[in-house]
Amino acid sequence: MAGVVRPDSKVLGVVVLVRHGDRSSFYQNAADYTPANTIITPLGNVQEYLLGQNLRSIYLTSNSSSFISTINSDVVDHDQILVRADGGGEGGVIFNSAVSLLQGLFPPTLNYDMTLANGTTIVGPMGGYQSVPIESVEPDNDISLEGWTDCNAFSKATKAFYNSDVFKAKASENTDFLQSLRPYLDDRPITFENMWNIFDYMNVQSLHNKTFLDSLPPTYLAQARHLANFHQYGVFSSVQPNGIGNIAGQTTLPSILEGVQRIGSSSDPLNFVYQAVSYKPFISLFNITQAAEMNPELAGIVNYAAAMVFEVRESDSGGEPVIRFNFKNGTEDSFRTYNFMSSTDDIPLSTFVNTLEPFGFDDLPTWCNVCGNTEDRGCAELVAAASRASQAARLESKPAISAVGAGFIGAGVTIVVLFAMLGVFTFLGLLTVGFGKRKAKRGKYGYDTDSTEKS
Ligand SMILES: *[C@@H]1O[C@H](CO)[C@@H](O)[C@H](O)[C@H]1NC(C)=O
Ligand SMILES: *[C@@H]1O[C@H](CO)[C@@H](O)[C@H](O)[C@H]1NC(C)=O
Ligand SMILES: *[C@@H]1O[C@H](CO)[C@@H](O)[C@H](O)[C@H]1NC(C)=O
Ligand SMILES: *[C@@H]1O[C@H](CO)[C@@H](O)[C@H](O)[C@H]1NC(C)=O
Repeated sequence: MAGVVRPDSKVLGVVVLVRHGDRSSFYQNAADYTPANTIITPLGNVQEYLLGQNLRSIYLTSNSSSFISTINSDVVDHDQILVRADGGGEGGVIFNSAVSLLQGLFPPTLNYDMTLANGTTIVGPMGGYQSVPIESVEPDNDISLEGWTDCNAFSKATKAFYNSDVFKAKASENTDFLQSLRPYLDDRPITFENMWNIFDYMNVQSLHNKTFLDSLPPTYLAQARHLANFHQYGVFSSVQPNGIGNIAGQTTLPSILEGVQRIGSSSDPLNFVYQAVSYKPFISLFNITQAAEMNPELAGIVNYAAAMVFEVRESDSGGEPVIRFNFKNGTEDSFRTYNFMSSTDDIPLSTFVNTLEPFGFDDLPTWCNVCGNTEDRGCAELVAAASRASQAARLESKPAISAVGAGFIGAGVTIVVLFAMLGVFTFLGLLTVGFGKRKAKRGKYGYDTDSTEKS
């Protein structure tokens, strides 16, 4: 297996992305990836807890070669760690995974104590259990960790992938295998479009249901996984780094870039950024960073509790910090360093940021525009606010003001009206002429959702 060895250098901090742990069954619509609810299992809690311990042994333990020496590894310093968890698609599974991981990362300590006003000393519960603040990133008011849901352009690209020759060829090559799964799928629809749900059902049952495990022929799960890997890499990646298929990675990128920059800045106390997510940002980020191109085994669905780590390290030459990319494919795997971004070496921080920045966005107006959505996730409010602004400006533009002031104020109001209206029109996609520069830029970055994109 791949994985390269590079010389040790001082680790300043890390940005970590982690998939949630084992959960109960989960269904997502194969057309637009609208999720259904599910819950974490004790196994899921254990997987995340073990990963937290593993990360602790690497980055928070003083005799480790990758120890982050400035971090307080005993009692959590809230300025040094930033935790965000996708609070959407899989119910509480991702948030609860973060809770378990943090229990392993910062175990109870008797130093988590205080002396009260009345003189009594008190230690946190369960022998000094400390709670680390977790920001729950709710898809309804923050698109950053779940950019793909309600995204019409994404659904359109998914449909184009399902209609592509490469998809159809794969489907027909595997018709017999899919039909042979019928007795095991409890009447689930057997189509290649539904491959993720087929695989996930088999995976969940194989882990939780002895009758199922005993009846399933030994190679079937691996075969189904192989097909689901092809399917999901196609759905959640794109020929262009900022093509719409990569939206799960694009909207996650700004938080990663901000994290490594803050860690690299000597005046910022932040050392540890941890984002709890689903498998989708992994796929897009492997594609956007060329990690999958340089390590083809990465082009697939990561296991539960898989983790990618962007290490911010001091450079050997004394220059700016560098980024090293590590990945661990779930509980049974170990962290390994992978080449990415067309390089077999660590990437200078500024190169990392400057190369990836054009592909990322996490602001709502851009999202509504790129996804072609005027209704959901705050887009309706944005459209309404923009139209209110232009209406108000229009009313204000015929005020009863004396002639002297009118010219002055009038000029100002006109500009405001113009900007407001341009904003509304470009936002609604109504303005088709005169924006040569912007159009060219969008074209270059591949935001167009041309249906041939994936084929
Ligand atoms: C001090 O206050 C704490 C919290 O209210 C209480 O548990 C403890 O019994 C008090 N100690 C004394 C000596 O009153
Ligand atoms: C366990 O698997 C068997 C065999 O596929 C199936 O009939 C049964 O419904 C499954 N049980 C549950 C709880 O899903
Ligand atoms: C990203 O994925 C697409 C398939 O959707 C593929 O054509 C492209 O080559 C991949 N890009 C890289 C850099 O691996
Ligand atoms: C993770 O491991 C599974 C098998 O356990 C494999 O099918 C998958 O391709 C691997 N994913 C990555 C991204 O390495």
